[in-house]
Amino acid sequence: MVDLAASFRRLRERGFAARFYSELLSADPRIKQLFQNTDFNRQRELFEHGVLMAIDNARGGALGGLALRRLAVLHGPTGLAIPTDLFAVWLITFLKVGAALDPEWTPDHREAWKAALDEAISCMAPRV
Ligand code: HEM
Repeated sequence: MVDLAASFRRLRERGFAARFYSELLSADPRIKQLFQNTDFNRQRELFEHGVLMAIDNARGGALGGLALRRLAVLHGPTGLAIPTDLFAVWLITFLKVGAALDPEWTPDHREAWKAALDEAISCMAPRV
C-alpha cells in the first residue's frame, strides 16, 4: 500500500509547494488573477497543511474532514468562488509535480494521490 505521508515528506524536502504554485499560476490566466495579492510564504505553509488534511481525510480522519469542510466554505460561492473546472487543473498540476519531484513515485502513487485528492475535491467542489 502507498504511504502518502511518506511521499509528501519527500516532496516537501524537495520544494514541492514552490514548484506547485509556479506551475499552477502558469496553467491558466484566471489562476494568476486569483492569486495576485497572495503572500506565498504564508500560502505555501497553509497549502502543505491542507494537503496533510486531505491525507487524513482519505484515511477516515475526523480532523481532515473538518478542515476540508472549512476549506470548502472558503473556496465556495460565498468565499473565493473558485470556478469548479479549476479543481481539475489543480489536481493535474499536483500529480505532474509529484511525479517530477518524488524519487520513489510509481503508478500506484499516482492512483493513491488521485484517489485522496479526488475525495478532498469532492468535499470542496461538490459539483465537479
Ligand atoms: C483540494 C484542493 C485545494 C486545497 C487542499 C486548497 C487549499 C488551500 C488552503 C489551505 C488555503 C488557505 C486557507 C486559509 O487562508 O486558511 C487556500 C487558499 C486559496 N486557494 Fe486553495 N486549495 C485547493 C484548491 C484550490 C483551487 C482549485 C484554486 C484555484 C485555482 C484555489 C485557490 C485558492 C486561493 C485564491 C486562495 C486564497 C489565497 C490568498 O489568501 O491570497 N484553491 N487553498
